[in-house]
Amino acid sequence: MSRNLESVLDAVLDGVVMLDADGKIEFLNSEACRILDSSLQTARGLPIGNVIGVEHSVSELSRIVLASGRPAIQREQPIERKLLPDLVVDVEAAPMMDGLTATGVVLMLRDCTIQNNQRELAHHREELSSFGRIAAGIAHEVKNPLGGIRGAAEILLSRASDDKSKRAADLIVREVDRIALLVEDFMVFTKGDELRLAPLNIHRVLDDVLALAMLDPIGRQIEVHREFDPSIPEFIGDADRLIQVFLNLTRNALQAMEDQDGTLVISTRMTLDHRLSSKDGRHLPTLMVKLIDNGPGIDAATLEKLATPFFTTRIGGTGLGLAVSRHWVAKHEGTLRIESEPGTGTTVFVALPISAPR
Ligand SMILES: Nc1ncnc2c1ncn2[C@@H]1O[C@H](COP(=O)(O)OP(=O)(O)O)[C@@H](O)[C@H]1O
Ligand SMILES: [Mg+2]
Repeated sequence: MSRNLESVLDAVLDGVVMLDADGKIEFLNSEACRILDSSLQTARGLPIGNVIGVEHSVSELSRIVLASGRPAIQREQPIERKLLPDLVVDVEAAPMMDGLTATGVVLMLRDCTIQNNQRELAHHREELSSFGRIAAGIAHEVKNPLGGIRGAAEILLSRASDDKSKRAADLIVREVDRIALLVEDFMVFTKGDELRLAPLNIHRVLDDVLALAMLDPIGRQIEVHREFDPSIPEFIGDADRLIQVFLNLTRNALQAMEDQDGTLVISTRMTLDHRLSSKDGRHLPTLMVKLIDNGPGIDAATLEKLATPFFTTRIGGTGLGLAVSRHWVAKHEGTLRIESEPGTGTTVFVALPISAPR
């Protein structure tokens, strides 16, 4: 292929793969190299199956198109890569014809991973908002009688003459208090869902959080390191809600390290590799806050369940801290991600797009 045509294809935003009549790679443009995590030099002459897997749907599609001489399309095919994150691509395969025989195939690979992530995010937001409506209904119904039950149990407690009745009345009071706490967490979704936006400094938010968290005796043995990037600009957000988010996450980390001399690192930096889009689709500079603890970590099966409201492994936990945090981060158009290695610790990543104060 002439140098010129090659540079035209390199400028194409989709991955372009050309295969010969045997399904061997003749050419990859640079996007295809990125998607397949390969270079033209190593891939040229290899059967497509060697690069992407013989059993892979794209290899199969290439064989079908070569045999039939007809174009075909496949949506949302996963591409597993050894060292890089997996991708999802839409594939269009068209035969290059010489008369009635196909002498090759052109594959167009369109990376739709980001779109998919955004769709998942939108889906998640919808889920949370319907969850909010249900929560509002239940919270009100449950909250009202609680005061009465607690009052009645206290009367019983004060009048109980034997140990057994005392213990029973005491149990009622404690359990009511626990439910009241749960309802309070729940009510977060019900007290209006709108953000009160104002310019804010993320480091002031995090300093407030740490000051609050350290009031808790759990934090006593734990060393906290702040690794703040002072160049981070002010941005528009809801300081109270973000305090709530980072307080939840900090408390989780402290609770995880309760029985040990743990270290919590809170770091901030601007990030390029995690750009978020605003509502109008523009990419915005993104702030990444990381909370790194060296607690016991979370195994893979538990990690999956953390997206579910009410999931908790803590005695006395409500399992709402992460759900509430995700909710407010999503309201800021941001993302919350948890990575954990059992035995090593847990890192929570909160990415927030920064829209400058107007
Ligand atoms: N930093 C962490 N280290 C280990 N486990 C964690 C951490 N953060 C959260 N978890 C797990 O996630 C669960 C849910 O957290 P959360 O939603 O805040 O509810 P709760 O704190 O009430 O249990 C916790 O019970 C715990 O198992
Ligand atoms: Mg919690």
